[in-house]
Amino acid sequence: MVDSTSPERATMYGSNRLQIGLFGSNCSSGRAVTMVPERWSGSWPDNLKLARMADEAGIDFLLPIARWKGYGGDTDYQGATLETLTWASGLLASTKRITVFGTVHAPLFNPVIAAKECVTADHIGNGRFGLNLVVGWNEGEFEMFGVEQREHEKRYEYAQEWIDAIKQIWSPKSDFDFEGEYLKLKGIRAKPKPVGGSRPLIMNAGASPTGRAFAVRNCDAFFLQASRTSTEETAASIKKAKDLAREQGREIGCYSVGVVTCRRSKKEAEDYYRHVILENADFSAIDRILAMKDITPETKGHEEFKRQRHFYANGMGGLPIIGDPDHVAKTMAELSHAGLTGIGISLVNYLDELPFFCDEVLPRLERMGVREKRRHSQALSA
Ligand SMILES: Cc1cc2nc3c(=O)[nH]c(=O)nc-3n(C[C@H](O)[C@H](O)[C@H](O)COP(=O)(O)O)c2cc1C
Repeated sequence: MVDSTSPERATMYGSNRLQIGLFGSNCSSGRAVTMVPERWSGSWPDNLKLARMADEAGIDFLLPIARWKGYGGDTDYQGATLETLTWASGLLASTKRITVFGTVHAPLFNPVIAAKECVTADHIGNGRFGLNLVVGWNEGEFEMFGVEQREHEKRYEYAQEWIDAIKQIWSPKSDFDFEGEYLKLKGIRAKPKPVGGSRPLIMNAGASPTGRAFAVRNCDAFFLQASRTSTEETAASIKKAKDLAREQGREIGCYSVGVVTCRRSKKEAEDYYRHVILENADFSAIDRILAMKDITPETKGHEEFKRQRHFYANGMGGLPIIGDPDHVAKTMAELSHAGLTGIGISLVNYLDELPFFCDEVLPRLERMGVREKRRHSQALSA
């Protein structure tokens, strides 16, 4: 096990070659834009149960989504969301091994308060907290806060100062000033420091050239989009990101997002996927998300709009992995061999589906040598 209190921590708590996390469980509907009644509640009791189950099963991390305003539609997709730093603190108090992220919009959080909230969560979890730093893209959310959204490049300029300030606040420094173009902070004193004099893992998922450059310059974990065409394409994206980091003398981990439908047989998995994601998609919510990104039939033309609609319905940019346990494990092992450090997955109903995934897919990944043997061999679905 990685010593979570070593000064250079900035890693996940566990040490699996392929880290597996659950993505989006703090939001109603999770990451499935569907109307099926079993869609995810996002409630606290369900999140708590899920975190304890995942912790017990050896899942490596929980990654929430900082979403302040739902997307509407027939289901109000992601309309009810638990705030991520308080969510993480509660879950860290109730688990033993799993890393739990909090997701912070830099322009919405004062960095001195955010630094302290992160440290508090880190102490609650004895060094298992991770920070996902985002700059925001959703105009309506910023309007709700009365905060003006900066133009894209400036968002990352601001975020650079913000993360520089956070790292200094977490360092042994005391009674110092931070004098930036945007942030002018006087007489900073912030104690305690993160656990063990180390700092939490920081992740970012910038997709634009500026966002990507920001991530490789400042973060330990970079989330990139896995190709739906070939693992070779994914391997090339990973290499590009790692090379970019190495040019700056840094080593980063590359992660991605998967949308998993795993059932006993290929047919059962495909039937369920079709039922949930295609036949019962909440297209009114999808159309609203697309409109926020200025993707409409008017702006993009009918064919491109249809293509994007299909792309978003199919996992919101995540890689759909649909099949029996052999197929799901093989796909994940291939991603690991392509250089991926970890994958954040979502399930339609996390609590219903996680036991089968852990009982069937994790042991296969152990046998394939990409994950360590589980401490607890007890079947979750028993
Ligand atoms: C794994 C992952 C998690 C993300 N979490 C959030 C989030 O919680 N809140 C948010 O507003 N954006 C989130 N994003 C969006 C990214 O932070 C980023 O803004 C987006 O990929 C666009 O990239 P750009 O900022 O470089 O244009 C996430 C993206 C990914 C892939």
